Amino acid sequence: MMDMANSSVASGLADLLRPYAEAVESAMAPALTDDAVPGTLGEAMRYACLNGGKRLRPALVFLSAETVAESNSWRADPLPAALAVELVHCYSLVHDDLPAMDDDTLRRGLATCHVKFGEAMAILTGDALLTRAFDLLASGYADSGLAVKLIAELAGGAGPAGMIAGQAADMGLCEVPGGDAGRRYIHLRKTAALLRAAARAGGICAGADEAQLDALGTFGEKIGLAFQASDDLLDAVGSAGTIGKTPGKDARAGKRTYAGELGIEQTRRLVADLTGQAGEALKGFGGRAEKLRELAELLARRDR
Ligand code: IPE
Ligand code: IPE
Ligand code: MG
Ligand code: MG
Ligand code: MG
Repeated sequence: MMDMANSSVASGLADLLRPYAEAVESAMAPALTDDAVPGTLGEAMRYACLNGGKRLRPALVFLSAETVAESNSWRADPLPAALAVELVHCYSLVHDDLPAMDDDTLRRGLATCHVKFGEAMAILTGDALLTRAFDLLASGYADSGLAVKLIAELAGGAGPAGMIAGQAADMGLCEVPGGDAGRRYIHLRKTAALLRAAARAGGICAGADEAQLDALGTFGEKIGLAFQASDDLLDAVGSAGTIGKTPGKDARAGKRTYAGELGIEQTRRLVADLTGQAGEALKGFGGRAEKLRELAELLARRDR
């Protein structure tokens, strides 16, 4: 059951994310499919995306842009980038849940994509969302130099040196050191790399300089590590009703998690430390970074 402190964190987080979630969700259905996309595939793509995610990553794109400058001086609209990042995230969840990977049946409180549409369609849905994301970046920016920067950023975060390396390591498919170094290797890549790319993409759209992009990237990485540590905690102590996933799976699958290897209390301390470090990274932005700092604090105490 949710206590008062948790329920105010949940509503604070939902309030902070809402405007960005709404912007992304209203643009999502038209961005996902068009007349040339077969109906059944389009249905599965919409099922995988329009299903109540928190929309943290697109919010991070926008909040990072706002941290750099007022919207009237942005170099470009962050919306296509925010959408692209969320499509990559949704694809990663569809594939992460597949029988060959985490073999999960519940996602965002609903049957997983492969349970609903079959495994082959779920694989293709992930492929479709990933490629559509890059299509949105290529077609969503009139300034082709900017589009290429965003494409490179997202490809780096999501690709074989980023999220996919992390997923391969998480599945025990590549060699990873033991202890803290290995845990960090996995979590930096499978989760933090995409949050880092999201924060930097927002900065790129706002016209950030290199130092600002570095600071945003570090912020994204630190909250990304904290976010995965919290995800591991929620798997250990959360309930299906709140997290919308089947809890207890990490321990059963023998996953290398912070909660499993450090214990609950030490993982909570790690989340607090990483959140502090994330705030530190923003000091050059002064008061402009207030909302990003608030986001980090709320995420550290999230229950879903
Ligand atoms: C879940 O991400 C997968 C992780 C990287 C931990 P989220 O907790 O952001 O999932 P949604 O988008 O809100 O469903
Ligand atoms: C997910 O990590 C990371 C990616 C999807 C890239 P998890 O496997 O812990 O995420 P959940 O718990 O299934 O959402
Ligand atoms: Mg996984
Ligand atoms: Mg999983
Ligand atoms: Mg998890």
